[in-house]
Amino acid sequence: MIRPILRYGADTLHASASDVERFDDGLQRLIDDMVETMYAAPGVGLAAPQVGVAQRLFVADPSGGRSSDELIILANPHVLEEDGVQREEEGCLSLPGFTATVPRPTRLVLEGQDRDGTTIRLEGDGLLARVFSHELDHLDGTLFVNRLRGIRRDLIVRRVCKLQRLGKW
Ligand code: NI
Repeated sequence: MIRPILRYGADTLHASASDVERFDDGLQRLIDDMVETMYAAPGVGLAAPQVGVAQRLFVADPSGGRSSDELIILANPHVLEEDGVQREEEGCLSLPGFTATVPRPTRLVLEGQDRDGTTIRLEGDGLLARVFSHELDHLDGTLFVNRLRGIRRDLIVRRVCKLQRLGKW
């Protein structure tokens, strides 16, 4: 089932999420829904807070579904290794219509749990490292706009506020 994606301004998006504790049927349904929602959007990553669930869980697929073996599901992730800095333009399904260049690591090694609760370790370079960093931010209530400074952030926030006032957000 495709779930509605929350947009900038929704409380769950701006708060830190809690650890996933039960790998039960409810979690399996949530994961399936998140994968379906991400592909339908379409997007390359989606974190649970974006569908209103304050849990430390994200799904990602840098191929956008074109390659069947690139789907990643990770609960309770933490960073084991981090290298380098890349600056590329990125967007977010919770900020449709906006993009910005955000500094991210060029390589990240994460440890977390798969959908069954088994501990796994994942390495991401390039785009995947960027997706990992972006989704980890979501679990701490941070959107890419929060990583911008000054006029670049103000411009996006002002335009979002205007859309909200117009009832178009
Ligand atoms: Ni996002």
